[in-house]
Amino acid sequence: MDNVKIALFGFGTIGTGVVKILLNQAERIRKTTGKNVVLAKVCDKDLTTQRDVLVPDGVITSDAESIFNDPEIKVAVELIGGLEPARTFILKLLENGKDVVTANKALLAAHGEELFTAARKHGRTIAFEAAVCGGIPILNSLSTALQANNLLSITAIANGTCNYVLTQMEGGNMSYSDAVKQAQKLGYAEANPAMDVDGTDTAQKLAILAQIGFRTTVDWRNIPRIGIESVDAIDFNYAKELGYRIKLLAVARQSDEGLELHVSPTLVPKDNPLAAVRGAFNAVRIIGDSVGPVFFHGLGAGQLPTASAVAGDIIDTVLGRTAITFNALNLWNKTDAVNRIKQPETFFGRSYLRFNVIDKPGVLHEISGIFGKHNISIASLIQHEIEDSAALILTTHEAKEGDLLQSIQELETLRSVQGKVVRLRVQNI
Ligand code: HSE
Repeated sequence: MDNVKIALFGFGTIGTGVVKILLNQAERIRKTTGKNVVLAKVCDKDLTTQRDVLVPDGVITSDAESIFNDPEIKVAVELIGGLEPARTFILKLLENGKDVVTANKALLAAHGEELFTAARKHGRTIAFEAAVCGGIPILNSLSTALQANNLLSITAIANGTCNYVLTQMEGGNMSYSDAVKQAQKLGYAEANPAMDVDGTDTAQKLAILAQIGFRTTVDWRNIPRIGIESVDAIDFNYAKELGYRIKLLAVARQSDEGLELHVSPTLVPKDNPLAAVRGAFNAVRIIGDSVGPVFFHGLGAGQLPTASAVAGDIIDTVLGRTAITFNALNLWNKTDAVNRIKQPETFFGRSYLRFNVIDKPGVLHEISGIFGKHNISIASLIQHEIEDSAALILTTHEAKEGDLLQSIQELETLRSVQGKVVRLRVQNI
């Protein structure tokens, strides 16, 4: 039986998980691939921290060059995270004839074109299932089993940290900051959790999902995004009263006018399967023109779920399956950008608005006049008496984003409206 030597860069949480799977599942991997997949090197600059897995003698090294220059290593796994040195390492690995597996969505988001162009130039592959929704095989499903569909939408809960925090806040179990700290402790959060909570991580994942699902290259920085810091504990109560839960949703929706992409805290009807996604779980709901709605649910963060996707990519690369998909998809290739991305002011959707008003005659009339003028229809309206004023909570029917933002601006100038208008999206697909 042939040996295939592989090397791993980054012996952190996920790296440790990958080592565990490769060692514990060696027999299964041998049977599947027909080869001895040998973990030849694990490279990390930290050689002293004790990891909870035993690695054979001589495997751990801090010498990256020795791996670049070893012609026997055929597959390299990048789990360092961040932009550098991950980018330079991957470029060197590709130049030196190695196929690459990575979980690094931030790197793909920033340098996908450069890395994929290099891989094509050197006749190598890059596999990255673990970069989006951890253990959920979503990229694989989009690029193979669902590829015959014209997609109408992809709606995802793609950040485990945010879903964990929202779930804890909703249950009244923890404050926002305690929940973020706990997500860090449990290994869900990014090294810098600001990238989780401000929607960056989700937008980077959405850019990858949109590229594979809708064959369009989009810069994640152009995806409008709102993080979960903007969600107030009181909104969970009002959402509940209206029959919704609040989730950080990534949405890609195709219409005749183009592709709508956004990341925002969103009210999800409580009978929608996305509303039932709790804790660090992720989920993706896809609607295809032939298949109809499909729902994926699983752990999107954490050591073994993410390592499961990485190990699956290693096996596919050894089997030659990655090369087929890699060539067929031709990702991060500008010539493939066929979809028109919609401008935010043309988005079309439902909204939840909350604001405080002075409780006196004529106020509702004034407010409904603004919505009427902008052709926005109110779907529900609740008024709660609070000290000296009233909290108004309303949902709208589908409306154009530009009209809604204009209405909010006008509402905020009314003397009867106190403070800012809180706006969340309401899921409508
Ligand atoms: N930090 C991410 C999350 C996991 O919380 O979902 C890696 O993508």
